[in-house]
Amino acid sequence: FAARQATQSVFGAVQRRAFSQTAANASKVAVLGAAGGIGQPLSLLLKLNPRVSELALYDIKGGPGVAADISHINTKSTVKGYEATPEGVRECLKGAEIVLIPAGVPRKPGMTRDDLFNTNASIVRDLAKAAADACPDANMLIISNPVNSTVPITAEVFKSKGVYNPKKLFGVTTLDVVRASRFISQLKSTDPANENITVVGGHSGATIVPLLSQSGYELQGAQLDEYIKRVQFGGDEVVQAKGGAGSATLSMAMAGARFAESLLKAAQGQKSVVEPTFVDSPLYKDQGVTYFASPVTLGPNGVEEIHPVGKMTEFEQGLLEVCLKDLKGNIEKGEKWAKENP
Ligand code: NAI
Repeated sequence: FAARQATQSVFGAVQRRAFSQTAANASKVAVLGAAGGIGQPLSLLLKLNPRVSELALYDIKGGPGVAADISHINTKSTVKGYEATPEGVRECLKGAEIVLIPAGVPRKPGMTRDDLFNTNASIVRDLAKAAADACPDANMLIISNPVNSTVPITAEVFKSKGVYNPKKLFGVTTLDVVRASRFISQLKSTDPANENITVVGGHSGATIVPLLSQSGYELQGAQLDEYIKRVQFGGDEVVQAKGGAGSATLSMAMAGARFAESLLKAAQGQKSVVEPTFVDSPLYKDQGVTYFASPVTLGPNGVEEIHPVGKMTEFEQGLLEVCLKDLKGNIEKGEKWAKENP
């Protein structure tokens, strides 16, 4: 009984908080791939966010079912699921301020994110086409892997339709920051909620570059190597543990919901909202790397300021050089594919 009372009071507090904040603006948020491993918990978290006024859920399978379920949660936003038809996706996207795309296949043990390219490239291209037509001004948040290539693919689609706005296209790399912060807190016995490790580069293996030194930490030798490897290949831990049943979904849902929340905060007038994200970036363009993840200040029009990577140790500089080489290839692969498969 005591346990039930405690649970009830926790949920009561969450709900009171949800109802006591009224969002300044009405915000329609669309999730494409909403019935998937990431899509469902992501939609759930968005339903609990009082900044979202309308939640639009689309999937090639099961969108309306997930929407019916989530719509019973007693927070104010409206929820609608759309049929898997061209009209369905169009209606889902119409008027959306934020579009999150976790549609596509996840990894199985032994696969790299690049192994998903052949399947996910066309899924993202087709959804990007629908968004470029239905909501060309929306903030596009790409979760589907390989993010290093699916973001350039989305850009090419928007360019081909004459509606590309580099300030509104984001590869969601938040999970790398979440992991980097959690893993250091485990080594240093700190509160992970207070950690915010800068992670730059891209979102796969060696392109993920945590800059631990910027938070004042100096790991050495094997401990440093293990930490870097864990951040770069943390996704593999989950893929292995799930034994073929998918990759990170719950932690990814949290990370995606956090990024959407940051964009909504910035859109609704909050200043100095900074999130690391993979964007069309000037930082390494001279080296042919046209997209790069670094801390970005978000504003009402999306990207407000792209911050440079900042101070690095020689070791971190070495990681960055490897990253840039890989990243260039991933980006070019996406761009080439998009041009050859319009
Ligand atoms: P899942 O297979 O559980 O769900 C994917 C959903 O997309 C399914 O419900 C499927 O019906 C739907 N879908 C497929 N084609 C579609 C289309 N054309 N239109 C609409 N919906 C479509 O996969 P999961 O675990 O949710 O992962 C989704 C993607 O997210 C994968 O590519 C995965 O690699 C990626 N991912 C990205 C992360 C990141 O940090 N950015 C972290 C973890 C996963």
